[in-house]
Amino acid sequence: LSKIEIKLSDIPEGKNMTFKWRGKPLFVRHRTEKEIAAEQAVNMAELRDPQHDNDRVVNPKWMIVLGVCTHLGCVPIANAGDFGGYYCPCHGSHYDASGRIRKGPAPLNLEVPYYEFPDDDTVVVG
Ligand code: FES
Repeated sequence: LSKIEIKLSDIPEGKNMTFKWRGKPLFVRHRTEKEIAAEQAVNMAELRDPQHDNDRVVNPKWMIVLGVCTHLGCVPIANAGDFGGYYCPCHGSHYDASGRIRKGPAPLNLEVPYYEFPDDDTVVVG
C-alpha cells in the first residue's frame, strides 16, 4: 500500500507508535506540551542538520518520521537517548523529539514523509 491511514486518538500523549509503511517503520509521536516547547526552543547552531521544529511538523502535537536511522538504517528506540527522543543502538545515534540528529554518527535528521490530516482524528501518510 502506498498510503497508510492512522487514527490519532489511539496514540496517547507522550507515546510513540510504530507502523509499517512502504516496508519501513513509521513513527508517529503524540508530543506533550513540554516536548513541543523544548523542541521549538532548540538553538539552530547546536544542530548538525539544522532544521527548525516548525519545518518538521504540520501540527506540533504530532511528529511523524521514518523510523530509519540515517547512519546505516537501523530502527531507533523511542523515548531513549540523551535528547528525549530516540536512540539508535547500532552505533549510538541520539535523536531529539523532533527526530533531529543530536549526537553519534548519523549525518541527518530522521526523514519526514509527506502526510496530511483529512480530519482532527486522522492522518494519512503517503
Ligand atoms: Fe544507527 Fe548506525 S545505524 S547509529
